[in-house]
Amino acid sequence: MTVPTKKGYDPFSVRPLPRLGVLISGRGSNLQAIIDAVASGQLQATIAVVVSNRADAQGLQRARDAGIEPLHLCPREYPDRQSYDAAVVDALRKRDVDLVCLAGFMRLVGPPLLEAFPNRILNVHPSLLPSFPGLDAQRQALEHGVRVTGATVHLVTSDLDGGPIILQAPVDILADDTVDSLSARVLIQEHRLYPEAIRMVLEGGWRVEGRRFVRSSAP
Ligand code: GRF
Repeated sequence: MTVPTKKGYDPFSVRPLPRLGVLISGRGSNLQAIIDAVASGQLQATIAVVVSNRADAQGLQRARDAGIEPLHLCPREYPDRQSYDAAVVDALRKRDVDLVCLAGFMRLVGPPLLEAFPNRILNVHPSLLPSFPGLDAQRQALEHGVRVTGATVHLVTSDLDGGPIILQAPVDILADDTVDSLSARVLIQEHRLYPEAIRMVLEGGWRVEGRRFVRSSAP
């Protein structure tokens, strides 16, 4: 039997590794957590491309440093959101991406992407959804006065930060917390949850029932 040795193939298996496309806009610390999980073998996948809507995103450098193709797609070069999203889809399809991971991607995901990757787009959000969707989730939690917030990884739907929840982790809010101190502790949970959620989704054996992400193997 001939074992494929092409990049993206596990040399000990004839099955190609699933291919991730990671979409970012900035720092890319969640991207880094995914890169590290792939490097350590926690995540059996290949990161096929990192797409950013911003040329100066630090995450593009993280991609380069890890030997992953960085791709800047500038929204200003497209007439509208629809055609920008179509260009993102085109880039992902050309690279045979199976699963799309939003990691601090600061744009709404429109129909072209949602239709091209149904239940195949994940996002990480810095609150316990459905509390505090949208921007500045950590500030919203502090200002609301909740005692516990956290991190959520969910499937992306047309409902902003409202898709089926895959994993969540709580973070206590301390009396002297600032947005920065709270964000730092939430981020630790994001970095732990995101690779694990990707692993679960790639593993299969799950379905979406109404709003719920249901694992067949779950107790
Ligand atoms: C994270 O807090 C993520 O939850 C939110 O944006 C931030 C991105 O951080 N959507 P990074 O770019 O992954 O460091």
